[in-house]
Amino acid sequence: MSQCTLAAAAKINLYLRILGPRGDGYHAVAMVLQSVNLRDMIHIATQPRKEMSITCDHPQVPTDTTNLALRAAHLLAEQFPKQATGLTIHIEKYIPVAAGLAGGSSNGAALLVGLNHLWNLGLTLAELQSYAARLGSDMPFCVQGGTALGTGRGELLEPLPPLTGGVVVLAKFANLSISTPWAYRTYGEQFSHTFALASVQESDHFVQVLARHILPEIATHLHNDFEKVVLPAHPEIERLKQGLLDSGAWGSLLSGSGPTVFALYPDLTLAKQAIAQLKIDYSGVDFWVAEFCPWGIEIVT
Ligand code: C5P
Repeated sequence: MSQCTLAAAAKINLYLRILGPRGDGYHAVAMVLQSVNLRDMIHIATQPRKEMSITCDHPQVPTDTTNLALRAAHLLAEQFPKQATGLTIHIEKYIPVAAGLAGGSSNGAALLVGLNHLWNLGLTLAELQSYAARLGSDMPFCVQGGTALGTGRGELLEPLPPLTGGVVVLAKFANLSISTPWAYRTYGEQFSHTFALASVQESDHFVQVLARHILPEIATHLHNDFEKVVLPAHPEIERLKQGLLDSGAWGSLLSGSGPTVFALYPDLTLAKQAIAQLKIDYSGVDFWVAEFCPWGIEIVT
């Protein structure tokens, strides 16, 4: 029997433009994805019986075949039947669930990286990412992590120079979740008139700002098209975002299709002071402190 433990990082979007429907059920996007060191721990052990089972310490995480970690394991087992073994998988959840932070995708990415290691598959990063793309649009990024430009439906990645410094605060109403398909569909219904003019070059300016690596400047250029549908539908998220800005953040943005909002602060002291005050002003909101990180999946043991 062999085993390994992996750390799987959450992601935020520093920039997200929806360019239009592609005719395959997805939308073309141009976005900048960024890993943060809020991470789940994934424990994988092989077992002699050719069965796969998964457990998680968070009650909201499904342990059936909708779980992306289990789906990733099944996909590699189908592709590599000779090397495949039975598995027990356990997820220690720290990334908030259904939050726009790619928690599920990062767990799937951890299985791809972990099984490549445990089953000695010898897959390259590009091969792992092409399996990841079959399971979810954000998953190829989660395999690689760091800072990257994502186009296509989000799976075509161009690494960008790593972003360092500052402190990221993540804030989420505990009882709120937003469906990503709903957010895309509603955006399409309300903003289809923008699609004819949208082009992938729209991210060029943000990428140039990013390259200068001046965090206060980056923070003022954060952009997410989903805010145009999610904030009017959930005014409480808009108020929370304003609260983060008023508390001294350089900038704040909805992450992915939400409901998590993140904010960028100059240092930990200011971030902690802001959270202490915001906890008084906003009930039912959970807060996390994180930093940008240059990796997606780390093999810990
Ligand atoms: O790829 P993933 O399974 O994460 O996507 C979930 C859903 O989000 C898709 O079925 C689709 O409705 C929507 N989506 C989209 N365009 C994208 C990514 C996701 O419309 N680029």
